[in-house]
Amino acid sequence: MKGARPLSRWQLTVDLTDGEGPVYLAIAQALSDAIRAGRLAPEERLPGARSLAAELGVHRNTIVAAYDELVAQGWLEALPARGTFVAARAPTVLEGRGGSRSTPRRAIPLALPDLSLGPNEREPGPVRRRGLIAMDGGTPDLRLAPTTAMARAYRRAVRSPEHLAYGDARGHPRLRAALATMLAQARGLAVDANGLLVTRGSQSALDLVARALVRPGDRVAVEALGYAPARAVFRMAGATLVPIPVDAHGLDVEALGRALADGPIRAVYLTPHHHYPTTVTLSPWRREELLRLAARARPPMVLIEDDYDHEFHYRGRPIVPLKARDPHGLVVYVGTLSKLLAPGLRLGYAVAPPELAAAMLTIRELSDRQGDPAIEAAVAELFEDGELQRHARRMKKAYAERRDVLLTALADELGDVLDVTPSAGGMALWTTVRSPWAAHTEAWAARAVELGVRVATGREFGLDGAPLPHFRIGFAMASPDELRLGVKRLRRALAYFDTHRR
Ligand SMILES: Cc1ncc(COP(=O)(O)O)c(C=O)c1O
Repeated sequence: MKGARPLSRWQLTVDLTDGEGPVYLAIAQALSDAIRAGRLAPEERLPGARSLAAELGVHRNTIVAAYDELVAQGWLEALPARGTFVAARAPTVLEGRGGSRSTPRRAIPLALPDLSLGPNEREPGPVRRRGLIAMDGGTPDLRLAPTTAMARAYRRAVRSPEHLAYGDARGHPRLRAALATMLAQARGLAVDANGLLVTRGSQSALDLVARALVRPGDRVAVEALGYAPARAVFRMAGATLVPIPVDAHGLDVEALGRALADGPIRAVYLTPHHHYPTTVTLSPWRREELLRLAARARPPMVLIEDDYDHEFHYRGRPIVPLKARDPHGLVVYVGTLSKLLAPGLRLGYAVAPPELAAAMLTIRELSDRQGDPAIEAAVAELFEDGELQRHARRMKKAYAERRDVLLTALADELGDVLDVTPSAGGMALWTTVRSPWAAHTEAWAARAVELGVRVATGREFGLDGAPLPHFRIGFAMASPDELRLGVKRLRRALAYFDTHRR
């Protein structure tokens, strides 16, 4: 209802610079311009004549005259004892021409440089629909996030003025200390908290590495099937990407050696613990060979190790990161709390060789200044209280169960169509679509979305965006019942596809 909820408002800007003639008409013109441009919305309440007069330094009667004029023209409505409002049917640019508030009328092209991104490298944003079971990624089940403890910790943190101030660009010291303890105890990685940089998700850590390390024309090796947002930051830094195949033992280090023989490679981006997207683990002998190759290369190759879901390893003990055996200081270790806790918090971290860490810190200070001290302090408290450790244990148990549910459902419903790649961990399963369905992978997935389940297809992971006969099926973000239903829908999508399109 009009004016039912008085809006707390900013001082109204009335542009009188173009005004001609009597002041009240100039004010009326400025207000109708503001309505037309959408700066004042239909039904919005205008300031009282007295206060607008004081703001503009004119007599109250001048404003009354301006308002009367606009009421007469139909731009405004005066409601006795309530105030003056923009007319409900006032024409705005938004309605009138279908443009947006800030769309210039005759925009001159800005001739921006090309970002040079490849297929799938522009973040499309999550597409969610009511009733759609999302099994297309490795996002955690945020319905299980420890929100009560998070809210309590944040409330405490934000009350402290120091957490509202400029802080340490490396991240809150308590969070760095907590992360260093976790890395030492759970991942066999001895790092000094001072050498750790807290970033906004691992994406910003990768961006900082790319900007500090890569110069236009440098070659950067990436897993041939891999994580498109990481590829994107290397491309934006001007790198030429060199795809290296991945097999059941992880990155093919021999193939990397051959690529190195063709010319220097500045860096290798890889996901050794659970390769993204196939979830295979890089074998111990390849790890040794990779470290040797990196040290022998001239200039030395920097190994960028993205260990995004370390906790979720279900068979045997998690493998110690490459960074734990880095005698020459060539490994940058990148981690995230997006999987363990929640991606929306944007908390990641990097441990880099000192020279590189210093350059990353400088770039961070200049581009982003720092992270969010209150969030960082709150999350530090969750570590200090053991809340996150308990959450990690609960989630690992839940995801292990979900993984089994998905494996069983896939064997029952789609055992004749999909081969599942064995893996020891991760938050998704990598599957291969058998012939004769392989050629129809994309159409099958599209039909599955219509029937209410989304899985990722192989096309999303390659450098060229070509269709590949694979599904990556996430199990962490769906409950066991949702997983069973999702797989049934996937099967139904195939049945439909079989009868109608083959
Ligand atoms: C390979 C890989 N690295 C990192 C991340 C996490 O990114 P961020 O920490 O920026 O949320 C993901 C999440 O999907 C991922 O799949």
